[in-house]
Amino acid sequence: MTKKTVRDIDVKGKTVLVRVDYNVPIEDGQVGDTLRLEGSFATIRYLLERDCKVVLISHLGRPEGRPNPKYSLKPVAAKAAQLLGRPVEFAGDCVGPEAQAEVERLEPGGLLLLENLRFHPEEEANDAGFARQLAGLAEVYVDDAFAAIHRAHASTVGVAQHLPAVAGLLVEREVDTIAGALERPERPLAAVIGGAKVSTKIEVLDNLIAKVDSLLIGGAMANTFLVAKGYQVGKSLYEHDHLEYVQQALASADKAGTSLLLPLDVVVTDKVDRSARGHSVNVIGVRPDDIIADVGPRTIERALKPLRLSGTVIWNGPLGISELPQFAAGSLALARGLASSRAKTIVGGGDTAAFIDAAGLHDRFDFVSTGGGASLELMAGKVLPGLAALLDRS
Ligand code: 3PG
Repeated sequence: MTKKTVRDIDVKGKTVLVRVDYNVPIEDGQVGDTLRLEGSFATIRYLLERDCKVVLISHLGRPEGRPNPKYSLKPVAAKAAQLLGRPVEFAGDCVGPEAQAEVERLEPGGLLLLENLRFHPEEEANDAGFARQLAGLAEVYVDDAFAAIHRAHASTVGVAQHLPAVAGLLVEREVDTIAGALERPERPLAAVIGGAKVSTKIEVLDNLIAKVDSLLIGGAMANTFLVAKGYQVGKSLYEHDHLEYVQQALASADKAGTSLLLPLDVVVTDKVDRSARGHSVNVIGVRPDDIIADVGPRTIERALKPLRLSGTVIWNGPLGISELPQFAAGSLALARGLASSRAKTIVGGGDTAAFIDAAGLHDRFDFVSTGGGASLELMAGKVLPGLAALLDRS
């Protein structure tokens, strides 16, 4: 990584403001998924071992600039304390007298989590005064919130103008793994992209087509590719206004020598709900009333051959309507195939991470990103504002 990390500066005994992403599901006061919490612990432990006073800041949900108990980080402090096996103090605000007083009470080696940044509208507005207030709490700023690094907010960008600002160990690992896989991969390099819309992943598709050796496209976005190639998709979702883009993408893949793998067969249904039933048909067999809900078994079988022979495989986006178990078979077969392959397997966060987690396959992948939107933007080769704000190594 070209940015400085906590290892590159002297943090001994300092008060360190650490931006984490503890935007985690909470139900009945219980934290549902601890991947993001655990992801932050390497940096936290590193700082605590150096007698720092560690002040954690995060957002949770989208409370629209107002305090709302539903989005309080208090249960997250309790969960983090349980997982870390040490106290995590909590302050009911992230700026102002309460935050200030709690920070002052911290002993070296103490850990404090401040209340949700987004209870203040100034956070998302990247307000300069709010950023200064946050910075006033500490001597060093560490960004370890990979999942929020694509946001230009006060706690990810503004604050970095006022303190020595470096990356945490999770951000370093995420960037080195994902960007590294695209810049210096062990080849052959393959990618799997699913999800509903081509329009939300144009930059990712462009970047991948230019860099990978083979690319499997699934999910409803594959329908737009199928239509562009002259197939019928019945009543399935597809993006008519992106057919021209898809034609260009097909031509770019051809020119770059990228093998583009589209569905050979699909699972079709007549409705999309819990009671729906599907059956697989060849892509030329889709009828006018059919809705494509998943890729078929032949598609996975054919795709797994090059994927298993790859040095690196990057996967982002389910291949079907995977929230309905009857349309999750394609994604599951792919997940199992990749889990048992020798390729270095990298999974984008969000839906794909949740899917392999639910399938009990998380530990069988080499790397599962904690960031949904952030990992996509990194795969698209975009500049991430939170990363750009940090000190350069050179
Ligand atoms: C995420 O869950 O993707 C991150 O925490 C960012 O959240 P946001 O999309 O509400 O900014």
